[in-house]
Amino acid sequence: MISPRGLPQGESGARAIEPGRSPETAAKEAETRSTPGQFSPDDFASFGARSWIAIPAVVKCPGRISIGDDVEVFPRAWLSVVEEHLGSRYEPRLTIGNRVKLGHDLVIACIGEVVIEDDVLVSDRVFIGDTSHGFSDPDTPIHAQPMMPPRPVRIGRGAFLGVGSIVLGGVQVGPNGYVAAGAVVTKDVPARTVVAGNPATPIKAWNGRAWESQR
Ligand SMILES: CC(C)(COP(=O)(O)OP(=O)(O)OC[C@H]1O[C@@H](n2cnc3c(N)ncnc32)[C@H](O)[C@@H]1OP(=O)(O)O)[C@@H](O)C(=O)NCCC(=O)NCCS
Repeated sequence: MISPRGLPQGESGARAIEPGRSPETAAKEAETRSTPGQFSPDDFASFGARSWIAIPAVVKCPGRISIGDDVEVFPRAWLSVVEEHLGSRYEPRLTIGNRVKLGHDLVIACIGEVVIEDDVLVSDRVFIGDTSHGFSDPDTPIHAQPMMPPRPVRIGRGAFLGVGSIVLGGVQVGPNGYVAAGAVVTKDVPARTVVAGNPATPIKAWNGRAWESQR
């Protein structure tokens, strides 16, 4: 279901507590968890005109998310904006510009800064993250280890992220950058450049007159 300004008001929606979590952690998580119906435009740092988030969606810490005008977020987005993990506190900030379109099954993991500038188009099943689960201790389960320090991510104005692509921490995609389907982006994408593959590398770039092969 999609509603104008997207967010159905007044639904109660049970707050899930996952097995295996301590009551304290579960209570803390419940404070920040939004299941469908548990967030409204007023919960966000800002929520622009004519924007909507289709449900189901999971939005954590909406107060740390700014959404511009005419933003469309298709079903099953998971905006994982996290202030606390295993006792570490973060100051996350997710900024989504005007006229941004975010496809189905998007995941954004943010404990630092993720910026999606105006007019970005994101296809289905895309992951954007400014951190990863840490693995410095080889003997402790990964889920019990701290997150890696965040590295800011910026998707430049007018850029495109193809279906199934992944944008990792520290990456800046330049204006009108083009990330091909299935690409895993580990390094910056220059403006007006097409990157593809895993790890993604340039395949074409605009030379001022025409698209030039980079291979
Ligand atoms: C990037 C894309 C547009 C192709 O662009 P193109 O200019 O037609 O590229 P070409 O077909 O000329 O390919 C150039 C080279 O890149 C390779 N390539 C193209 N797309 C690739 C991809 N997604 N992954 C890996 N390699 C790719 C080609 O095999 C070719 O390699 P070669 O030079 O060794 O033969 C297309 O692959 C793509 O990703 N489309 C987006 C699909 C999508 O996300 N749709 C959802 C819309 S909401």
